[in-house]
Amino acid sequence: MIATLFFEPSTRTRLSFESAISRLGGKIVGFSDASSTSVSKGETLNDTIRTVSNYCDLIVMRHPIEGSARFASEISSVPIINAGDGANQHPSQTLLDLYSIKKTQGRLEDLNIFLVGDLKYGRTVHSLMMAMSHWNATFNFISPEELKMPEEYKIYLDNAGLKYYEHTDFTDIISKADIIYMTRVQRERFSDPIEYEKVKNVYVLRNSMLKNTKASMRILHPLPRVNEIHIDVDANPKAYYFEQALNGVYTRQAILCSLLGIK
Ligand code: NCD
Repeated sequence: MIATLFFEPSTRTRLSFESAISRLGGKIVGFSDASSTSVSKGETLNDTIRTVSNYCDLIVMRHPIEGSARFASEISSVPIINAGDGANQHPSQTLLDLYSIKKTQGRLEDLNIFLVGDLKYGRTVHSLMMAMSHWNATFNFISPEELKMPEEYKIYLDNAGLKYYEHTDFTDIISKADIIYMTRVQRERFSDPIEYEKVKNVYVLRNSMLKNTKASMRILHPLPRVNEIHIDVDANPKAYYFEQALNGVYTRQAILCSLLGIK
């Protein structure tokens, strides 16, 4: 019995976890909208986790507060999978991203990874960058000034002795990319809607921009996309984001087996 507790919206993460659970013969309890639970009566995360951990063997949790998954893991009697904690981390997405990179590039070592879009609030790029640092990646961070990769992650790369370059545009360097990882500007993390309006359409990847890219280059996106990848890219064989989403099911089956000791 596995609990899926989604305090924030989700399509792929929740449904691919639930598909993975069902394919393994497991059962699911949970919610995709916390407003229908006692959270709306003022129940704390502490009490919700203490209760739900009595009902299941494992909890998959997405929550808007950074550090909430770590907190839950400290009080839960069953394992917690972080399905995204605010702008912090999204580790199960990273495992499916690594699988997608390995599958399309044949290796994880020595790749040039372009991370594009909201590098400040995007949790997927924080986790992916830390993971890829184990395989001697070179990083190109492409974002508007307002949404740059936070200092703590750059210090992490400095300490690992890895190279990274920061840009506000990538049209001139696109031929160097092995992976272009596009991201959505995370509207829900902005306190000022005017600030969001300023940066919301800053990058739009179009098919015509892909002419000088490597034959082996692949475009990834954790999805949902808003405007950052034009639909004219979808038919290009370099577009890999929907296969990437499928890889989420396989990867999450593997994560569940590993945590539950299933061979
Ligand atoms: C991402 C997330 O929730 O962080 N989506 C996902 O899990 N595949 C990316 C996003 O919402 O932009």
